[in-house]
Amino acid sequence: MSAVRARLGVLVSGSGSNLQALLDACAREDFPAEVACVVSNVPTAFALERARKAGVPAVVLEHKAFASRADFERALGEALRRAGVEWVCLAGFMRLLSADFLAGFSGRVLNIHPALLPAFPGLHAQRQALERGVKIAGCTVHFVDAGTDTGPIIAQAAVPVLPGDDEASLSARILAEEHRLYPLAVRLAVTGKVTLEGARTRVDARATVGELSLRSPGAPP
Ligand code: GRF
Repeated sequence: MSAVRARLGVLVSGSGSNLQALLDACAREDFPAEVACVVSNVPTAFALERARKAGVPAVVLEHKAFASRADFERALGEALRRAGVEWVCLAGFMRLLSADFLAGFSGRVLNIHPALLPAFPGLHAQRQALERGVKIAGCTVHFVDAGTDTGPIIAQAAVPVLPGDDEASLSARILAEEHRLYPLAVRLAVTGKVTLEGARTRVDARATVGELSLRSPGAPP
């Protein structure tokens, strides 16, 4: 008999390539989680197509159709609970979640951001990194708090910024690492190797450096 797997709800707004990485990881028998449902606030998001193809229930909740953020979040919470969701993974979800909503999934909401936080939170992180001339960029998976990309960090992956990079080339290099990092970080979180304790993460002795900080395979030595 297979072990009990953590039930993930994945929130999306766009292409959903990170959702795909999670779906692919969950398709492996030894992965400790499964995608129980996908929720998009954008009806045309390609991520919905990916969910359908994987046979995962997908729900559209257009935030604009609700009178207030509280109403939207109430519907979101209901949809997730109906699907038996235990962990919430934001994957290109373009809405901030309130402290009230987060309290309902306390310590069990994760996000992926295309920068080495705490540098470059918010929109256009890769453009911000290029504008500042950083030489090492990357991505971060963190627990979500009510701020913008401010929650405690679970794991990071680094990539080099190469001469001649533009926003598109750097974003593509980071995105490839996002797809490796997110499943790893989900594994760390749902197995309790990294937990949220107050405003910090606690890292269990079982977690290895190789799981917590990745380096791009193409990076120069
Ligand atoms: C990713 O770069 C993610 O880090 C950011 O939004 C983008 C979503 O891409 N939060 P996708 O929809 O997963 O392809």
